[in-house]
Amino acid sequence: MKFHVMTLFPEMIENAMQESITGRAIKAGHIELSAVNIRDFAENKHNRVDDYPYGGGAGMVMQAGPVYRCYKNIEESIKDGKNPRVIYLTPQGKTFNQSMAKEYAKEENLVFLCGHYEGIDERVLEMIVTDYVSIGDYVLTGGELPALVMMDTISRLVPGVLNNDISAETESFSDNLLEYPQYTRPEHWMDKSVPPVLLSGNHKKLAEWYREQSVIRTALRRPDLLEKAELTDKERELVKSLLAEE
Ligand code: ADE
Repeated sequence: MKFHVMTLFPEMIENAMQESITGRAIKAGHIELSAVNIRDFAENKHNRVDDYPYGGGAGMVMQAGPVYRCYKNIEESIKDGKNPRVIYLTPQGKTFNQSMAKEYAKEENLVFLCGHYEGIDERVLEMIVTDYVSIGDYVLTGGELPALVMMDTISRLVPGVLNNDISAETESFSDNLLEYPQYTRPEHWMDKSVPPVLLSGNHKKLAEWYREQSVIRTALRRPDLLEKAELTDKERELVKSLLAEE
């Protein structure tokens, strides 16, 4: 998996991705990162990449030319002949979620376009963008943090990036249920003890407990997710009684 990021702040992308699990994945060669500075594709003395909006109004708009040349440069570097998906980060996009991450993780190359100022000239978006993606209903100053959020989420689904492939699969959202609570040593802390079932060594009981805790937690914290979850009749009864208590 190779991430190509078109940005005015390449260091912001590189610095964040070099840390922690994504950093390790880059060093190990599981993922590749190329942050390309759009400003390098300006063709004027002052390397300007923005201008006033036609029709007037507040703020500046990123020009089509530098963005297009930056994209062409990336496209030429991808030698597999396939057109990559080009993701434009914008609050006007489809809201990113785990199942979109799973789809993106299948790609060999992903291109992210990070906007700044009041936006990007519509004409270049029409030419190069395949996917409009938002990370939530709020407005950030630029697309870098959203691109980082997406790359982090996608990276951990790439084979080899996490130590165990199971953990990526069994976690929150994989079946529209939240993850059950976790405990580690010491067994007793302040006036709180670890649930005894976790010490029982009974695998069947453990699995039942994990499942029940996931259902309870989802009902209490994210009941909206339950519409898509597959629950047994008994679990539906449990959810009903929990929600009636609320
Ligand atoms: N750019 C600014 N705000 C954004 C958001 N919420 N999601 C994606 N890109 C953005």
